[in-house]
Amino acid sequence: MPGLRIEGYVIVSADGMLADASHIMPDQLKFEGDKQFFTAALDRADLIVHGRRSFEDQPNSPRRTRLILTRTIDAVAPDPANPNATLWNPSGASFEAACERAGVRAGTVAIIGGPGVFGMFMDRYDTFWLSQAAGVRLPGGEPCFPGVPERSPQDILAAHGLKAGDALILDAAEGVSVTPWRRAA
Ligand SMILES: NC(=O)c1ccc[n+]([C@@H]2O[C@H](COP(=O)([O-])OP(=O)(O)OC[C@H]3O[C@@H](n4cnc5c(N)ncnc54)[C@H](OP(=O)(O)O)[C@@H]3O)[C@@H](O)[C@H]2O)c1
Repeated sequence: MPGLRIEGYVIVSADGMLADASHIMPDQLKFEGDKQFFTAALDRADLIVHGRRSFEDQPNSPRRTRLILTRTIDAVAPDPANPNATLWNPSGASFEAACERAGVRAGTVAIIGGPGVFGMFMDRYDTFWLSQAAGVRLPGGEPCFPGVPERSPQDILAAHGLKAGDALILDAAEGVSVTPWRRAA
């Protein structure tokens, strides 16, 4: 769909983890500056895409149009629990078909995880916003992308044709920044 702009968002530890060893995003990875950045991005997005366990759970969440990946359905179906959500199983329907069913044909799509979902879109991101907390390590945690920790998240984004822009500081005291990784034109 040429009218869709695909953007990814994640915050990771210094060792590239998006959650701890019990698959939970720990408080150590939660920072007010990053939350504000992420919230503003989701409020601007036309569609949010995530796996069943990566719901962002914010005050504006019920108003946001979203696709939720799940294998509990065959292809695409309305979410009985949320009128603004469409359930999507990629093995039974294309991303384009799922967007159609969600009523989104143009605009910005925010991909917000988890790792397998990030991996599916690696060759499609226009920009991936990689937030990192330099002072946090989560040994044995859940890697943010397939291929981490053997390779760094940055190496993986670069291998998929994305180039780092200037980092924005989100929390100077805690060493948290976000770097836009953009596809070369
Ligand atoms: N730090 C961050 O920025 C960040 C970002 C995202 C997530 N997280 C954290 O990471 C953890 C979630 O990790 P997770 O790996 O469990 O993530 P997840 O992708 O949100 O959830 C996995 C579930 O999504 C569905 N799913 C995923 N890929 C699918 C596919 N290709 N086809 C069909 N269904 C698919 C399946 O649902 P069914 O079981 O219904 O089939 C699967 O069980 C949470 O703790 C979350 O808070 C952190």
